[in-house]
Amino acid sequence: MLKKKILLGVTGSIAAYKTAELIRLLRKNNFFVQVVMTKSAKQFVTPLTLQALSGNPVLENMWDPSEGNGMEHINLSRTSDLILIAPASGNFIAKLANGLADDLLANLCLARSCPLLVAPAMNIEMYNNKATQRNIETIKKDGILISGPDSGEQACGEVGLGRLINFESMMLDVRKVISHQIFLNKKILISSGATLEKIDEARAITNLSSGLMGLNLAKEAYAMGADVTVISGHSNYEFPPCIRTIKAIDHDAMYQSIISNIEKNDIYISAAAISDYKPLYTPGKIKKKNENISLELKKTKDILSYVSKHFGHKFIVGFAAESENLIENARDKLISKNLDIVVANTIKDSMGKPKAKMVIIDENENTPLPEAEKEVQSRIILEHIFKFFSKAKTYDSIN
Ligand SMILES: Cc1cc2nc3c(=O)[nH]c(=O)nc-3n(C[C@H](O)[C@H](O)[C@H](O)COP(=O)(O)O)c2cc1C
Repeated sequence: MLKKKILLGVTGSIAAYKTAELIRLLRKNNFFVQVVMTKSAKQFVTPLTLQALSGNPVLENMWDPSEGNGMEHINLSRTSDLILIAPASGNFIAKLANGLADDLLANLCLARSCPLLVAPAMNIEMYNNKATQRNIETIKKDGILISGPDSGEQACGEVGLGRLINFESMMLDVRKVISHQIFLNKKILISSGATLEKIDEARAITNLSSGLMGLNLAKEAYAMGADVTVISGHSNYEFPPCIRTIKAIDHDAMYQSIISNIEKNDIYISAAAISDYKPLYTPGKIKKKNENISLELKKTKDILSYVSKHFGHKFIVGFAAESENLIENARDKLISKNLDIVVANTIKDSMGKPKAKMVIIDENENTPLPEAEKEVQSRIILEHIFKFFSKAKTYDSIN
């Protein structure tokens, strides 16, 4: 695959030391990295470190004839797929908002023809300052994209918004900016993970869904430009902060959350393993006895059927995890629940596993996918959904 070129601008924020790790990550993700630093950034991290990690000379001085052909203040951004400013200081954001070009990095931003992604990192007061907020609004209006910041403990000891966004979310934003955003302006709701039904105050029954499929679908949909909301049951994974996540641990919470969010979305992907039965709840703790005991299980409401009956104007995707007759059972689900697409997978090959063997079932055909990591499968599934969704003119678009 051809490498994409990122021009990484590093400015004078205390978070500049983190760029060493960021460069490694970008290179691991097959990017060619050209670092340009501001003078202040060099107070926080040495050019030598970033040069060694990026494998390219670090540039800073637009007046140094030994740095390129003398026109690097415009050439570098012309040959880049993206300029990423990480971390972006309050000062540098102010320069962007006003179109200043008093150093090499600011010149490259002004003379660019590629997208510009800015990851602010500064003290909470500096970030909340009206001038900074005004500058951020201005650069957003100018079409500059913002990644973060995160909230949390800061270098100065204060707690709040202003930390450099975590790299997992930043990488999703990078992918989003340079990819073809097929779901731009579309809203996708995904239910994910396992539900957990309480037996008594201390015990519960659940299933082996890990939440990995839902996590990957959410991340890929986000990178494809969608506004993503996840309703997450019990999961072994954390969702990155750029994905709106609502916790719903048991069947009833899942039902309530799905029903109250679906109307706001264009597409609903039901990837959660939601309990078909739940135990009758016993208050307190059931005392241990010498003999066996039985649990009475009550049938739960079929959420997917309910959704397709009442929200059939949305594009609805179901998942079918089967132990036998995979295709027949999945096609039966597609028809009986009136779904747009069903993704069929065998439990032994997919549930709780990093990889999956899947078949996409639609009204016309069955499309088997090669066995692959769930990240790869998610991308193929979403492209398939897009193909059908964009053909389906009759679906309500909320935009
Ligand atoms: C110790 C120290 C830490 C700083 N940390 C930050 C920071 O995290 N974010 C920020 O926007 N500015 C920070 N500043 C201020 C900037 O370095 C200063 O505004 C500088 O002019 C930015 O230059 P540049 O935008 O050209 O890189 C810090 C300054 C000092 C002395």
